[in-house]
Amino acid sequence: MSGNIESVLNETRTFPPNEAFTKQAAISSWAQYESMYKESIQDPEKFWGDVAGQLHWFKKWDRVRNWDNPPFAKWFEGGKTNLAYNCLDKHLNTWRRNKAAIIWEGEPVGERRTLTYLELHRQVCKFANVLKSRGIQSGDSVAIYMPMVPELTIAMLACARIGAVHSIIFGGFSAPALVDRIHDASTKMVITADGGYRRGAVVRLKDTVDEALKNCPTVKSCVVVKRCNIDVGMTEGRDFWYADQMHKAHAHCPAVELDSEHPLFVLYTSGSTGKPKGILHTTGGYMVGTYLTTKYVFDIKEDDTYWCTADIGWVTGHSYVTYGPLNTGATVLMYEGAPNFPESDRFWKIIERYKVSIFYTAPTAIRAFMKWGDEHPKKHDLSSLRLLGSVGEPINPEAWMWYHEMIGGKRCPIVDTWWQTETGSIMITPIPGVTPTKPGSATFPFFGVEPAIVNDKGEELANGQGGFLVIKQPWPSMLRTLFGADDRYKEVYWERFAKQGWYLAGDGAVRDKDGYIWILGRIDDVLNVSGHRLSTMEVESALVAHAAVVESAVVGFKHEVKGEGIAAFVILGKGQDKGHGTAEALKLHVRNMIGAIAVPDQIHFTDALPKTRSGKIMRRLLRDVANGVDTKGDMTTLEDLTVLAKLRSDEE
Ligand code: PRX
Repeated sequence: MSGNIESVLNETRTFPPNEAFTKQAAISSWAQYESMYKESIQDPEKFWGDVAGQLHWFKKWDRVRNWDNPPFAKWFEGGKTNLAYNCLDKHLNTWRRNKAAIIWEGEPVGERRTLTYLELHRQVCKFANVLKSRGIQSGDSVAIYMPMVPELTIAMLACARIGAVHSIIFGGFSAPALVDRIHDASTKMVITADGGYRRGAVVRLKDTVDEALKNCPTVKSCVVVKRCNIDVGMTEGRDFWYADQMHKAHAHCPAVELDSEHPLFVLYTSGSTGKPKGILHTTGGYMVGTYLTTKYVFDIKEDDTYWCTADIGWVTGHSYVTYGPLNTGATVLMYEGAPNFPESDRFWKIIERYKVSIFYTAPTAIRAFMKWGDEHPKKHDLSSLRLLGSVGEPINPEAWMWYHEMIGGKRCPIVDTWWQTETGSIMITPIPGVTPTKPGSATFPFFGVEPAIVNDKGEELANGQGGFLVIKQPWPSMLRTLFGADDRYKEVYWERFAKQGWYLAGDGAVRDKDGYIWILGRIDDVLNVSGHRLSTMEVESALVAHAAVVESAVVGFKHEVKGEGIAAFVILGKGQDKGHGTAEALKLHVRNMIGAIAVPDQIHFTDALPKTRSGKIMRRLLRDVANGVDTKGDMTTLEDLTVLAKLRSDEE
């Protein structure tokens, strides 16, 4: 970790927000930020009560925060609300009724749709009735496995409307990954599409669902959106076409008055060990957290055209494509496909065409744009942009500078937002009209967030010293537990600093001499590939499940575009052949087991792995091999020194 710390602290450039932005910003002075922050920490009940009061509740809460039984938090207890109501109905009695809620562009050139708030509301009500007609009730689990089409937003809002708990599974996952998630949540229904478009090709989603449903007895029905007009199997009595169901459905469906702590969704994410964790978010607190961050971090205004490029299959798409922006009444741009289809300027074309003013994307995408060349953004008028955002992994200062100059025309503030699936909403971020930014730093905490950087004894570290990032107080949009696994929830996030009652984020961080927070990456065995979390363990399990493999160890290495690439060290069984396409076969196997995102970039065949005397794989050493750097540091625990030498010589 130390090398990392030194390199980031070399960054001395500072960029104050431009005056014009500050003048119009919702928070327009450092003093204002400081006093709001102070109140949010010293009197969270007052602060969050005031924020919640800006939203619609059928019944007001009795108590803002309940932390009597940590780590199980309750927010706005006794309150009754509905997030879909806040995202839709609330706007219908205002002029926003005919405002564009979603402007959608399909990947095939020329495909466009706009849904006003009124129309989106109508579609959501109809689909909520479809859910009910298929037996879905409040509290039931519904899996959504879809391309980025408006029906995905409609499906999730329809679930929220009737209190069904959605579990959205990213469209890149394979059938076994779907099965795991469907089992874990005892899902009753799957909503999918025949296929989706990706880089000009059709991804056959329904085939994958069919494969998965062979092993999912809890699933009683499957609703299928016709997106690509391809032939797919439809199982009589189980599968229904979306359009047929919608045709029959009534457009009237009142939003259910739900308890503030009613489960809203489960979203699976990777942990360092075991199966994926079902992160559970509930209604009221998540609603308040995503609302306030959208309002202040994106400084969203009525006339903005806001574009977050994340897929709704990840948490960023939940919080900042759907719930946050629609709750504020924004116009959300949604794009279905790849950034380089049909050409590498697709994103810039979209920004020019719709006059996008707020653009939120990931460092991995920014690095890809840099690689593709400046000529692509230069061909387009990007002057409508006023604010840029970054999320998913640390952004390298070079990528930040390129984003600032080439996309932001040096005028747009950049908000580098640190948060997690678990946190539900943005936690550490610049406030755009106020915070002087430094390339690569997420800067300072958002309201209600009390971070600290500590050593393993829980002692706060001085500026310049890297350590564990912890959060000292509960916050409204925090996860409530891991679905069906309270003990694992306690163990993963709360055990390490149980005495202090702090949340362990799983990231390393450091504060510089000015108090700016720099995120240093994961401290556990979680990889961050293109801004998405994968556990080394999941990829290892997939490899070992292949008949030819007896043992494997997976580590990350520095990758120019993905941030982190995947390197797999593999021991084959007796008599197995390293050549003749074995590496390719293993890659295909991982793709089939988990999905394309988990496919190793490097496969190293070896006869042994470096282990400690107690048999623990020394990943640190493997990481050095994968990164092509010399190993420094303590090797005295290595059981057999020749293993490492052999691994290195195999590389040559
Ligand atoms: O390591 C941090 C990194 O992404 C992890 C969370 O991943 P996930 O739950 O998939 O959510 C991603 C989108 C919120 C964090 O533990 N991360 C996320 N944002 C940043 C970041 N690292 C540095 N800077 C960021 N802005």
